[in-house]
Order: sequence, then C-alpha cells, then structure tokens
Amino acid sequence: MLRNSLSLRTVIVAALLSVLWTVAPANAFYLPGVAPTDYEENDPVPLLVNRLTPSMDPDDQQLRSVISYDLALEPAGLALRGHAWKVVDNYHPAFHFCRPQNGPEKQAESLGSILFGDRIFNSPFDLRMLKNESCKTLCTQTYDPRAAKFVNRRIRQDYALNWLIDGLPAARVKYDEVTDTKFYSVGFELGTIEADKEPYLSNHYDIIIEYHETRAGKYRVVGVVVLPSSHRTALDNSGVVTNCEVNDKLALNRDTNTQVTFTYSVAWTPSPTAWATRWDKYLHVFDPKIHWFSLINSSIIVIFLTGMVAMILVRTLHKDIARYNQLDLNEDVQEDAGWKLVHGDVFRAPKNSLILSLFLGSGAQLFVMTGFTIVFALLGFLSPSSRGSLATVMIVLYTLFGFIGGYVSARAYKAFGGDKWRVNVIATPLLVPGIVFLTFFFLNFFLIASESSGAVPLGTMLALIAIWFVISVPLSAAGSYFGFKMPAIEAPVRTNQIPRQIPEQPMYLRWVPSMLLAGILPFGAIFVELYFIMNSIWFHKVYYMFGFLFLCYVIMVITCATVTTLMVYFLLCSENYHWQWRSFFTAGACSIFVFLHAILFWVSKLALGGFVSNVLYLGYSLLISFVVFVLTGSIGFVTSYVFVRKIYGSIKID
Ligand SMILES: *[C@@H]1O[C@H](CO)[C@@H](O)[C@H](O)[C@H]1NC(C)=O
Repeated sequence: MLRNSLSLRTVIVAALLSVLWTVAPANAFYLPGVAPTDYEENDPVPLLVNRLTPSMDPDDQQLRSVISYDLALEPAGLALRGHAWKVVDNYHPAFHFCRPQNGPEKQAESLGSILFGDRIFNSPFDLRMLKNESCKTLCTQTYDPRAAKFVNRRIRQDYALNWLIDGLPAARVKYDEVTDTKFYSVGFELGTIEADKEPYLSNHYDIIIEYHETRAGKYRVVGVVVLPSSHRTALDNSGVVTNCEVNDKLALNRDTNTQVTFTYSVAWTPSPTAWATRWDKYLHVFDPKIHWFSLINSSIIVIFLTGMVAMILVRTLHKDIARYNQLDLNEDVQEDAGWKLVHGDVFRAPKNSLILSLFLGSGAQLFVMTGFTIVFALLGFLSPSSRGSLATVMIVLYTLFGFIGGYVSARAYKAFGGDKWRVNVIATPLLVPGIVFLTFFFLNFFLIASESSGAVPLGTMLALIAIWFVISVPLSAAGSYFGFKMPAIEAPVRTNQIPRQIPEQPMYLRWVPSMLLAGILPFGAIFVELYFIMNSIWFHKVYYMFGFLFLCYVIMVITCATVTTLMVYFLLCSENYHWQWRSFFTAGACSIFVFLHAILFWVSKLALGGFVSNVLYLGYSLLISFVVFVLTGSIGFVTSYVFVRKIYGSIKID
C-alpha cells in the first residue's frame, strides 16, 4: 500500500516536472522576437501598433496617468463597454489614427502579454527593406471638438505611442549625462506641449530603421527610432501632401472640426549592431554606480544583521539547552523563566488554524513559483524581446505548482490537528487566488469604465478561470490528497490539557511594534529592486536586472527567516506560546513597508489626475502587498516551525 502510493507520487512528480520543462521554456521560445528574421531588399517589414501608454513628463519627471488606450477595440470589450458610438469605428475612435485598409487585425499574443495590457494590431504603414521614403501621405482624418478635447488631454498627460517593427519597439533617443551615453527609451510622444502651453498633435513620423547585413542580400532590423513632429500640412490637388516640412504646428481646435493629414518618412541606415545585441541600447541603466552602491550597501547591512542574529541565536540557544538539561539532573531546582516553561503549550494548535494552513499552502506555491521564475529569467529564458513571457511563465508555473500548495496546506492542517479537511481541500486553491482574482476583476471595471485598453477582455478573464479550474484546482486537490495521506507531523513534546497563563508582555513584543521592527529588515533587502520594478510597471520600462533580483530575493528570504526566528525566540522566552500567527505576521510585515514604499512612490513620482488612475494605483499596490504578505509570512512561519521543533526536541522533559 505504502509502496504503491510512493510510486504513484514519484510518477506524478516526474510528470509535473516534465510538463514544466516542456511548457515553460518552450513558451518562452515561441514568443515573437526570439528568432531572427532575415529580410531581403524590398521585403515588406510590418509595422505593428501597440497601445498608448502614459509616460514620464519631461519637465517634472512625474507620471500623470496609469491608464492605457488601445488603438482598436475588441468585440468582448465592446460588449462590455456598451457605448454605441464606439461600435461605429474599430480603432479607438477619439484618437482617429489611420486604419489599415481592411480594418485592424489583432495580432496573436501570449496570455501574459494580454494581462499586462499589450494590444497589438497591424497598421497601414508600408515599409520595405532598404527603401527610403520621404513624406508619404497616410490618410486624412477629421477631429470633432469632442475628439479634439480627448486627444489634447492625452497630450497633456504625456501619452506615448508604442510601435513594433520586427519585434523591436520604436524608441526615442535620449542622452544620459551621467554615463555620457545615448540610449533608447521605448515609445514616442503623441504630441508636445510648447512654450505657449498649447498641445500640438504629432502628425508626421520620421521613422529611422537601423539594419544589419548578415549575409549578402540578407538584412535584419536592429534598431528603430521614431521622431514625431507636428506640421500644419496641406493636401494638394491629387490628395497627397508634397511638403512635410511646414513650420506651422498643428493644434486640434476645441470648437470646430480639424482636418489632420498623417504623413511619414522612412530612412534605412546601416548599423554595426548585431541582431543578438540589438536590445542592449534599450536596456539602459541610469547611473549604474548608485544602483550598485545602494544594492551592495543594503546587502551588506542585511547580511551583517542576519549574521548577528544567527550568531546570537546559536550561542544563547546552546547555553539555554545546556542549562535546561543540567537543571533536570539536579532534580527539584525549578527554572524560573525561559522558553522551556511553555513546552506544554507551544504546539497547541493556533486559532483559525484552517486559514493559516490555507495561507501557508498559497505561500509555498508563491515561493516556488517566484524562485523558479527568477531562475528562468536569470538563465535568459525570459528576455525582454519576448513580450509578456515573464507574466506568462509566472502564471503557468503558479498554476502547475498548485500541487505544492495543496500538499503544504494539507500537511500543515493535519499537523494543527484540524478536522475540516474537506474545507481545506476546497479552499486551498480558492482563497488566496480568489482574493487576487476578485480584486483584479474589480479593478478591471474601473479600466472598462475609463475606456482603457488595460482592461482585460472578458474572453481572457474566462480563459484564466478555465485554466484555474481545469489545471490548478485538480492539481491542488491531488496535492491535498497526498498531504493528508502522509502521517501527521508529530510534536516533539506533549501538549498540556490546560493552557498556561501568559504573563504581561514587554512593549517591543506586542503585535505592532514587533511587526514593524522585524518587517523593515527583509524590506531593506528588496527595496532597491522594488523601486526598479515599480518603475518598470508604471513607467513601462523594460525590467531585466534579474541577477540583482535573484540576489535580493535570496537575501530577503534569509532575512525573513532569521528575523522571524529571533522574534519567536524572544516571544517564547517571555512565555508567550502564541507564536504561529505571530511568526506569519512578523515576516509578513515586510508587505507593510512594500505598501508604504508604493505610497511614497505615489507622492514623489506620480501626479495622477483623476479618480480612476488613483484607485487603480492603490488597488494594484494593495494587491502586490497582499501577495508579498502571503509569501514572506509563509517563509517566516516555516522557519519558525522548524526552529521551534528543533529547540523543543533537544531538551529533556520529565
Ligand atoms: C536612406 O537614408 C539614409 C539616411 O538619410 C541614408 O544613409 C541611406 O544611404 C539611404 N538609403 C538609400 C538606399 O538610399
């Protein structure tokens, strides 16, 4: 019987691993932009348009909005939005960009890419390898006052267009004074605000494409720069613009209709950049010295503190254990204080042990998922060129690791002596993911209401739910099955019938002070990377510093573990045996600082106008903090559990 279940388990684990190896890296490889495309002269090079994103204001370096708009609406989105005037046109009507002849076509994207808001469509631009163009007329559009107001507002909010040519984002060239280098910043402006405070819409695009010749007659795209500009151009008799260099700028009139003709020029320039390194100029590190310095700084502090904690702990513990075991020999000398006193209560099941076990299951699942994702990224599977691969891999891994979630949750619940095992099995894959999903779903309504493309289409939402119920829930249930079949983890000491009285606790061991004291240390390990991640999320910058991230993650885990262990030790020393939830919250307190950091970022870097942007920002920040809470809390609990078992297992009790 035992052998049977063991071999079945091995099979399942092996199957899981093989699925993981085939799905995750293959997925990363399949995504566009990973394999080079060779073009011959005059081959069409498609230009794809992605959503419009808010970008940093060049003057005050702040962000004005967090809502993005796509150029075309999808049927699912249409049905939900239900604005009659939107059904008329397929590209976001207010922007009035030129549409491809047969209407915009949606391009295939990965799940992660869709969830993170990419909406990619084809475009009417006709680019051919090595064929320079100057002043080509695209189309003429009429902006009514309503559209003019809408677009002008978006220009004032520094919205940027995002185009893709051969998988490379169109960029602006920027200059970094600190490192004295030029770099590419993804996206280019919708329009500009001039000295007269008027918004001018850019209706001419100078597209500069860098190519690299690999073999004779074979060319690859290695860089794309777009210089947008605004001109009050006029159509001649044959309906085209012949002069794109008009000095007069074009502003949309808020009172009457404005005619706008869009034009573009293309210049192909040879470049020595090889295809493999074409992303390098996009991945610019601002002031690398400061980055390194602060990283090393925080790492040293954290490692130092952790080392101290570990040393103190080991030395005092040795002394304690030696003393306790000696005292037992001299019989009737009863020790008057110390953690030994609570040996009869320390393994008493915590209150709400069901919820704790659910959190632990999800925490373990998150822990394994983040670890694997970072390692995959570190190995280069998730290059920035494969859009959305990071999010896709995270979702795939989290789904597959449902097994681990169920297993850990079941084992923890059994160890707590819980008897509502059915509830445990059902709720493990539902509680934490449910909270995350419902928040996401709720915030999505705000996006829908603001006509943003960031709104995840209903179809994708349903697909997510389907993936969840078809793959993750069964895996989690299987994990629970194995978890409950294992013998319960036995406590090394017996629990007394009657709970012991807990004496008055010192100030620093109360809930809030102890959480704040302990939570700041793991936060110290991650805050530099957190800042860069926040920048990448809200300013739509490419994040790729996975080496740093890996180091930070490891340091954070170690810090969570040691700090919580220390706190639990102090708690037990002051005869408080309610350590289970406390350890979870002590380590989880890191999330409080993550949220405070988000608030600080909000105050210093964002100047969000509008209710929706603010609600979205705070909502997503809360969501991230909650996930960090479950993750770090579980790390704290598990290490404390191991610690408590170890120390009570090493003393003699009569
Ligand atoms: C296209 O324009 C660029 C920049 O003006 C120039 O360097 C290049 O030689 C031109 N290519 C052709 C084929 O004319």
